[in-house]
Amino acid sequence: MSLKTKKNGILPTIFFAERCDMLNSPSHISKLESIAQVKWASSDEEAAILAEVRDATIIISDYVPITSRIMDSAPNLRGIISYGVGFNQIDVNAASERGIFVVNLRGSNAESVAELAVSMMVALLRSLLKSDQYVRNKKWDTTESGKYPDWTLGSELYKKTLGIVGIGEVGKRVARICSKGFNMRLLASDPFTTKEKALELGAELVDLNTLLKLSDIVTVHVPLSAETKGLIGAREISLMKKSACIINTSRGPVLDEAALMNALKEGKIAGAGLDVFEKEPIPTNSPLMELDNTVLTPHVASSTREAREAMKDMVVEEATRIAQGELPKNLVNRSQLVAKGHLRET
Ligand code: 8YV
Repeated sequence: MSLKTKKNGILPTIFFAERCDMLNSPSHISKLESIAQVKWASSDEEAAILAEVRDATIIISDYVPITSRIMDSAPNLRGIISYGVGFNQIDVNAASERGIFVVNLRGSNAESVAELAVSMMVALLRSLLKSDQYVRNKKWDTTESGKYPDWTLGSELYKKTLGIVGIGEVGKRVARICSKGFNMRLLASDPFTTKEKALELGAELVDLNTLLKLSDIVTVHVPLSAETKGLIGAREISLMKKSACIINTSRGPVLDEAALMNALKEGKIAGAGLDVFEKEPIPTNSPLMELDNTVLTPHVASSTREAREAMKDMVVEEATRIAQGELPKNLVNRSQLVAKGHLRET
């Protein structure tokens, strides 16, 4: 146990706001226990968390909203770690006001998310799920050989145009796989990069409208924020080619689901691959489930052994930094903390 982690002889407390899969990894939990007391909420309801969070020095949350009320109930709170790359469940402004670090797991699962996005492209263009059902439902009739249903005729990804909305950690990996593997032409839209940087990744930087008009596949890799909520709505979808597909492995609310539904139903676009939804789990009566030009997965883009291991390692590293009074590496509210005078510019 490091002495540095003790303040007034008291060990810091790491508080899990929900039972995320990290709690099933004894080796990671024992690393956390070597620097802090580890506790978890008895329920993910805010009322339970408010009653139990008091000692927390660090809160770890995956989906559970971390509100200003929760922050105010934990007077020793130094940092909030999102158990993921997205951190939209955390009230970042409230944390910044209070001088609390907000940390994400940047890059930890990017390869896995990129691979799922690319798998969805192939699944859509080759009607993979329908083909599987066709075989399982014993519809593959050898007496009709050569008379496959029309939908079995797919398209190649090879040399098609891919539009990458957000060319950060995930987007750049999708760019690598699709340019090296499928020789695709890459377009990217991203307000946080430059033409030169995009070009280094093999992509031409264009505005979102141009990207939507020219792409055969559009893949979305932006964080959810006030600026990106509803980024792809009815107007944006109407710019897409009739033959185009859209993939969303970022956050559900970035894409207007009702507008997408209408476009898919009316054949205004060809298909959609979705790992994230406006409401999760997706309501069982969602009309998206009635369509056969969609591939739907239950928010599992980061669900690989490799990504989950890297995520847990990163939580341990960041929690250790915070517990020892150091600056976390993946601080997402650095500029707000500086602006509010809680942190000095380095
Ligand atoms: C999370 C995700 O890791 O990293 C992200 O932003 O969306 C995820 O896949 C997930 O919330 C973990 O359970």
